[in-house]
Amino acid sequence: MENNGYILRHLLFKLSPLFIILYFCRARRFLYVAGGRCKSAARLEGKVAIITGANTGIGKETARDLARRGARVIVACRDIAKAEAAASEIRAETGNQQVTVRKLDLADTKSIREFAGKFLAEEKELHILINNAGVMLCPYSKTADGFEMHLGVNHLGHFLLTFLLLERLKQSAPSRIVNVSSLAHHAGRIRFHDLHGEKRYNRGLAYCHSKLANVLFTRELARRLQGTKVTANALHPGSVQSELVRHSFLMMRLWKIFSFFLKTPWEGAQTSIYCAVAEELESVTGQYFSDCQPAYVSPWGRDDETAKKLWSVSCELLGIQWD
Ligand SMILES: NC(=O)c1ccc[n+]([C@@H]2O[C@H](COP(=O)([O-])OP(=O)(O)OC[C@H]3O[C@@H](n4cnc5c(N)ncnc54)[C@H](OP(=O)(O)O)[C@@H]3O)[C@@H](O)[C@H]2O)c1
Repeated sequence: MENNGYILRHLLFKLSPLFIILYFCRARRFLYVAGGRCKSAARLEGKVAIITGANTGIGKETARDLARRGARVIVACRDIAKAEAAASEIRAETGNQQVTVRKLDLADTKSIREFAGKFLAEEKELHILINNAGVMLCPYSKTADGFEMHLGVNHLGHFLLTFLLLERLKQSAPSRIVNVSSLAHHAGRIRFHDLHGEKRYNRGLAYCHSKLANVLFTRELARRLQGTKVTANALHPGSVQSELVRHSFLMMRLWKIFSFFLKTPWEGAQTSIYCAVAEELESVTGQYFSDCQPAYVSPWGRDDETAKKLWSVSCELLGIQWD
């Protein structure tokens, strides 16, 4: 018996460095991986919010938070069954029954127009638009309108959606547009000579280009919205455990192996929530955030000429006039 006690003590002593490492890993995770947290206690009763791609990942956690704050939340998704499952979970958990699902496929401008038409007919106000949905690492494919998939969904789809809803955002001001971009925008370029990747296509770079487009769109949009009390900000959510890497077997493996170093979807949603609700951002516009604080934008993301050109090319592609 005494011998057993000795063995146990000896074993614990031998394992103590492991316990210390685990303890610091937890601290490291808390300090560096989890990132910033939205500390605002703002309530959103009477406010209306649309979140695209809110059936899973970062979007779902953002929807859950806004619902908890009392907002009326429109979960705008392409898959109604998945969206209904997420919405009913959020309703049950938050007690907020004003979480509704609407069909929106950002890879089809017809669907975007139908969504916006229905929303404008049903809702008199819109205070928060979170352009969150996204695709990454897709094999070469095109949207219903013939746009390269990353550019079409991540940029052009949200560009058109914002255009269609802007008057309602202006009428409901103060209101906010939040564009979920990525650190990946640093590797992006706007390749005007081959926007749809028909001459050369790399799925990783296609994602980066589309995320740079999010940053440039935000910049130009904010400039055009000066004086309207409608703000537009972009953000990087961090590296987050989500379904975003679903198109790459390798990335799915890596995401799993290194999941310890990734943010949870709740942690990843914090900067989106911060941009949507923080009182101190009421009149802040045209900025880029990460971990709930301003972050460095690549030189290409600060190029006003490219932002203006992307704006007019996007209008041309979508057949809209947005002055
Ligand atoms: N995860 C990260 O590490 C990370 C890092 C930087 C930036 N981001 C950005 O964060 C945003 C959210 O990503 P996530 O990580 O939460 O990924 P996710 O779990 O894959 O969620 C993406 C959402 O977008 C939706 N979506 C995809 N294509 C759509 C379409 N054509 N029409 C409408 N909705 C569509 C998906 O719907 P389905 O479920 O039906 O496919 C899903 O709801 C994205 O913009 C992404 O670029 C993520």
